Amino acid sequence: MPNPHDVILNASPWVKRFSPFIPQGGVVLDLACGSGRHSELFASIGYQVLAVDQDVSAIELLKNPFITSKRLNLEEANWPLVGSEFSGIVVTNYLYRPHLDQLPKMLQEGGVLIYETFALGNGDFGKPSNPNFLLNPGELLAFASRHQLKVLAYEDIYVDQPKAAMVQRLCAVKGEPKQRIPLQFQG
Ligand SMILES: C[S@@+](CC[C@H](N)C(=O)[O-])C[C@H]1O[C@@H](n2cnc3c(N)ncnc32)[C@H](O)[C@@H]1O
Repeated sequence: MPNPHDVILNASPWVKRFSPFIPQGGVVLDLACGSGRHSELFASIGYQVLAVDQDVSAIELLKNPFITSKRLNLEEANWPLVGSEFSGIVVTNYLYRPHLDQLPKMLQEGGVLIYETFALGNGDFGKPSNPNFLLNPGELLAFASRHQLKVLAYEDIYVDQPKAAMVQRLCAVKGEPKQRIPLQFQG
C-alpha cells in the first residue's frame, strides 16, 4: 500500500494553499483523480472525498475510509455526475471542455472550485501539447465570470516545479465564501 504521506507530498502547492477554503462538512470531488494525491490530501484534513477516474486502481490501493472511488468515463456524451452536489471540486492536469460547464452546477452555495492545468505554450516544454488539452489565455477567468463564480485567486504563468510547464490555476467560490481565511505566505 502506498504511504499516504508520500502521496500528499506530491500534492500541488496551489491545491494545498486553497484547500482550507472548501467548507467542511460536505464532500470534495477529485475529478480525474489519477493516483489520488489530492484525494489523500483532503482526506487527511477531515473531508469526505469522491474520487473519480476512468482508472481507479491506484486510488483503491490507498484504502482510505474517507475516500470513495468511482470508475467513470468523464468524456461520454451524458455527464455521469448529473444531480451530484459538492462543497468543493478539485481538478488538476485534466481538461475536457465539452463538460467544463457541468462543474459550477455541482457546487453547493459557498462551494469552492480549485482548478489547475496546462496552458497554451506548454508544448515548448513537453506534453501535453495538443491545444485540446491546453487552456487558452484567460480561459479559466472567463469561465468563472460566465458562471458568476467569485474569483479568489488566478494565475496564468510559467512554473519550473515539479517540471517546466505553462499552467493556469484558479480558486473560485459559488456565491459568498463561507469563511474568511488569510492566505499563508508560500515562501
Ligand atoms: C494527468 S492525469 C492527472 C491526475 C490527477 N488529477 C493529478 O493531477 O494527479 C489525468 C487523469 O485523467 C484521467 N482521464 C483521462 N481521460 C478520462 C476519461 N475519459 N474519464 C475519466 N478519467 C479520465 C486519467 O485516467 C488520468 O488519471
